[in-house]
Order: sequence, then structure tokens, then C-alpha cells
Amino acid sequence: MANTILVGAQWGDEGKGKIIDVLTEEADVVIRYAGGNNAGHTVLVGQERYILHLVPSGILRPDKLCVIANGVVIDPVSLMEEIQGLRRLGVKVDRNLVISETAHVVLPYHRELDVARENRQGRHKLGTTKRGIGPAYADKAARVGLRMLDLVRPEVFAEKLRRRIRENNEVLRAWGARPLSYRKVLQEYQAAGSFLQPFVANTVALLHQAIAEGKSLLFEGAQGTFLDIDHGTYPFVTSSNTTAGGACTGTGVPPNRIDRVVGVMKAYTTRVGEGPLPTEDAALGDLLHSMGREFGATTGRPRRCGWFDAVAVRHAVRINGVDELAVTNLDGLDTLSTIKVCLGYRVGRRQYDIPPADVQELSACEPVYAEFEGWCTSTQGARSWKQLPTKARAYLKALEDLVGAPIRIVSVGPAREQTIER
Ligand code: GDP
Ligand code: IMO
Ligand code: MG
Repeated sequence: MANTILVGAQWGDEGKGKIIDVLTEEADVVIRYAGGNNAGHTVLVGQERYILHLVPSGILRPDKLCVIANGVVIDPVSLMEEIQGLRRLGVKVDRNLVISETAHVVLPYHRELDVARENRQGRHKLGTTKRGIGPAYADKAARVGLRMLDLVRPEVFAEKLRRRIRENNEVLRAWGARPLSYRKVLQEYQAAGSFLQPFVANTVALLHQAIAEGKSLLFEGAQGTFLDIDHGTYPFVTSSNTTAGGACTGTGVPPNRIDRVVGVMKAYTTRVGEGPLPTEDAALGDLLHSMGREFGATTGRPRRCGWFDAVAVRHAVRINGVDELAVTNLDGLDTLSTIKVCLGYRVGRRQYDIPPADVQELSACEPVYAEFEGWCTSTQGARSWKQLPTKARAYLKALEDLVGAPIRIVSVGPAREQTIER
């Protein structure tokens, strides 16, 4: 398989985990390049449902190498628990997982600051996952972050942590939050550090070695295009570059070693957290929630739901350079007699065919919809393009025309086998 970047083309939770699991079959190395344990990637294998937060979804296929690269921010305690949890389920995690020595560490003060800032913002809160992601990336940019190579050297870690806790406690106190105990944090994080130490290495060198050996690389995006710190609906975004460019800076693999970009999108739209969602539709949300679908994999929050937004995805196709699309959750629309698709936005007489950068303006946008006839039959058993109802195929063909990239994979259920390769 060609070296492939897989990105979410919407607001996250597009079904990246499932598609990664499918594509991993033909890859040698699977690499997470951005985000942290704010991500929740669900993979169903047989009867077992795995939710991966930091470990690449490729781990569920034996003999694949998985890498957590430099662009990721790692909560060591959370990662340790995730590895232990996977092992309890019989998943092999030892030499097949490598963690970048230069990935930044998420510490308890990041989580506390994340929570405290959200509380202070009141109705202007972002609805973060409260995992400390924003403050951890802020420290990285401010050049006061601790990295994995610090964490795994107990004396270095003890010294750096002392200074960081002192400073962050001042802020926490000023914000009326409880300061942290240096001793407690040190103990807990040194233990996690010694657990993770055998996994830590120079992943840039390792990935270039893999490329030299002709291995194929699969870059597992987290979050989605409109949560990107530069290209998303700022400030209602996460704090990393979730788009395709992030795969290069987040791993040290240069752009000319990338062969293909796959964009993953749902057949409709979801978003969890605050911020504009032009095609949001409460009735569609009620329907999907009543089917037990669209609850967050990380926080359990019900996801906001809306119709497919071709304006947004067309933009995502452009900025990620999407060569191929994977559409998931087609079966979510199985019971609808009419399905809407957003073709453009309008504010008064003004029309938009790309999302406006200002969230106030985006929030004011009214979607301009086209309506499609629903197929009103289950697609979950379809295993080939031909087995899909004619109206479902017409819907998918319209989507690819509207967004400007071909659909190569259609997913009609959470299981591996519920996947159609066209
Ligand atoms: P990710 O963050 O992009 O990996 O997506 P999540 O795992 O957070 O959310 C996607 C949800 O949709 C999970 O519960 C998946 O099991 C589920 N899923 C993925 N593809 C399909 C599909 O085609 N049909 C159905 N019914 N569920 C799917
Ligand atoms: P996966 O990889 C959906 C959202 C949060 C919030 C915003 C900022 O599973 O698709 P953060 O904790 O990152 O500071 O929160 O981003 N968010 C996600 N939404 N899927 C995700 O990851 C997300 N990761 C963060 O809900 O709105
Ligand atoms: Mg998710």
C-alpha cells in the first residue's frame, strides 16, 4: 500500500478508527501524529469493541508496528492504563508500539487548567474534553513543555516538574482552583514514566528506516478538519494541526514521501462540543440517538447531529488534498424518506460556497439544501457497491460530485466486514 494519510473531513468522530482498522491490513506501520487522549477511535473486532485514545488503531492487527509520533501530546498515566487495558483484552502491546521521545507530556496541571478555564469562560466555554490538551500544546509553543525524554529520566523529570508545578500552582490559586501536590504528581508520573520507558525511542529515525526498507506507512489522523487549530472553526477547535499537513510536522516524514490522502466522512454530520454547525438538525439527532448512536467515545456526551454539509467537506477535500473518500455510517440514514444535503450557505442575500472564517458569520449562515429520496431499507448487509440500493448509490454519487473527490470505501456498519471497497 502507498504511504497514506487518513484524516477526518468533518468535526471528528467520522469513523476514522474503523477505516484505519480496515486499511491496516495492507500497511506495515500505523502512526498517530497529532492530538492526545481527547481522541476516541472505536474499532469493532468480532464481538469486542475497542476504544483507542492514544494507541494507534492498527494495534488490533498483530504484526503491525504502531507509532505515537512527536506531534501527539501524551498523558502518561492514561497511556499506561490504555496499554494495560488492551493487554487485559489479549491485545499484544510490547515491541509493536513505539513512542516518540520528543512527544510532549500532558500533566495534571494541564488538565486542571483546562477545566478551570472552561469554568471561567461560563457560557463562552469551548466544550473541551477536559483532557488538558489545549494547555499542553500551549506549553509546547511557549517552550516550557516536558517531553517523553524528560519523563523517562527520573532526576531530570523531578527537577523540571518541580519548577513547572510551582508556576502552575500560582495560576491555579489565582483562578480559585486547588493547587497540586508536587510529591503526589512526581510519584504517579515517575511510575508511569518507568512503565513507558521501554517504548520510548527516536521515531523519526525509525520511520525513515521503515521508508528505506520499502514499508508502507499509514498516518492515523485524530479529530477532524474543522477542529484544526489553523483551518477549523476557531476558537471552537482543538489545539493541534489535525489536517494532512500535520502528518508531516507531527512525524518528521516529509511531504514527498506521502502518496495518498484518504478523507473519512460520515454520510451526515456530527459535532461534539460547542461551536457552529450550520446543518444541525434536532430531529435527525433525536432519531440517531434513539437508535443508540452518536454518543462520544471519549466523554459519552451526545453528539450534535446535522445533514451532510458539502460546503464544509469540499473545503476539507481542498486543504487536505483528499485523493479518495471513505463514507461511514451510511446505514444511519436507512430509515429516512427524505435526506437533505447542504449545497451552500446564505446570510440574507449573501451566498457562500466556502465556510466563512469568522465563527459569528458562520453561525449566522443558513444552509441551502437539496433533497434526496431516501432508500428506506437496511444497507447493513450490503457487501458490494452493486448491493447498495439504487437511491443510496445516487446519494453517494451526488456527494462525490459535490465535494470533488471519489468515494472508494463505503461503511454500512461498525464491523470490519461491513465495508464496501469500490
Ligand atoms: P473516530 O473518532 O473517527 O474513530 O470515530 P468514533 O469511533 O469516535 O465514532 C464513530 C462511531 O461510528 C463508532 O461508534 C463506530 O463504531 C461507528 N461506526 C463507524 N462506521 C460505522 C458505520 O458505517 N455504521 C455504523 N452503524 N457505525 C459505524
Ligand atoms: P476523534 O479523534 C470529536 C472537540 C471537543 C471540543 C474541541 C476542543 O475521536 O475524532 P479539546 O479537548 O481537544 O481541547 O476539545 O474539540 N474534540 C473532538 N470532537 N472527536 C474528537 O476526536 C475530538 N477531540 C476533540 O469536543 O469541542
Ligand atoms: Mg472519536
